[in-house]
Amino acid sequence: MSHNTIAINQRMDRFDSHASVWLFGYGSLIYKADFPFLERRPAHITGWSRRFWQGSHDHRGTETAPGRVVTLVPEPGAVCHGMAYLVTPEEFAHLDHREKNGYLRLATEIGFEDGSSALGLVYIATHENAAFLGPASERAIARQIAEARGPSGPNSEYLLELAKALRELGKNDPHVFEIERHLVELAEH
Ligand code: SIN
Repeated sequence: MSHNTIAINQRMDRFDSHASVWLFGYGSLIYKADFPFLERRPAHITGWSRRFWQGSHDHRGTETAPGRVVTLVPEPGAVCHGMAYLVTPEEFAHLDHREKNGYLRLATEIGFEDGSSALGLVYIATHENAAFLGPASERAIARQIAEARGPSGPNSEYLLELAKALRELGKNDPHVFEIERHLVELAEH
């Protein structure tokens, strides 16, 4: 699959006739909502873990020096916490453009804090996309993040904003917080 997923995502039209759709955000979509929404609620999805395994050529890095951003990898029983937004289907044109570097819309059950749930969408960059970087140690990931920057700003800002947003939600993500710890350590030396 090429870097650009816009055309594939446009074919994912199962919610187009709905008045509104829940979107689950687990990365920059937690802290940067640059789209109108009807409602926003802390939420989670199960069976997925957040990992800094996706390359970013368009936002937090470049073609020659990609940054690292989060995607979700399947893990039975895992719970990924984030933020859900209720949006109108028209918002997906902007969202597909924002998430075009390898992310595909996937239908998923989204759980809310009051115990209710709804079927919605999440953007996931699988190992099959051309920008996928895959696993590395938390220290190596922090080193790459410390160096990278792209049109949306430094890669470190993405990581630090995400860690802050997860803390504000009261959620622990050992992978994210460990990379943050290494990044802070690298900045001190
Ligand atoms: C998301 O936030 O849900 C997707 C990944 C990102 O845009 O950072």
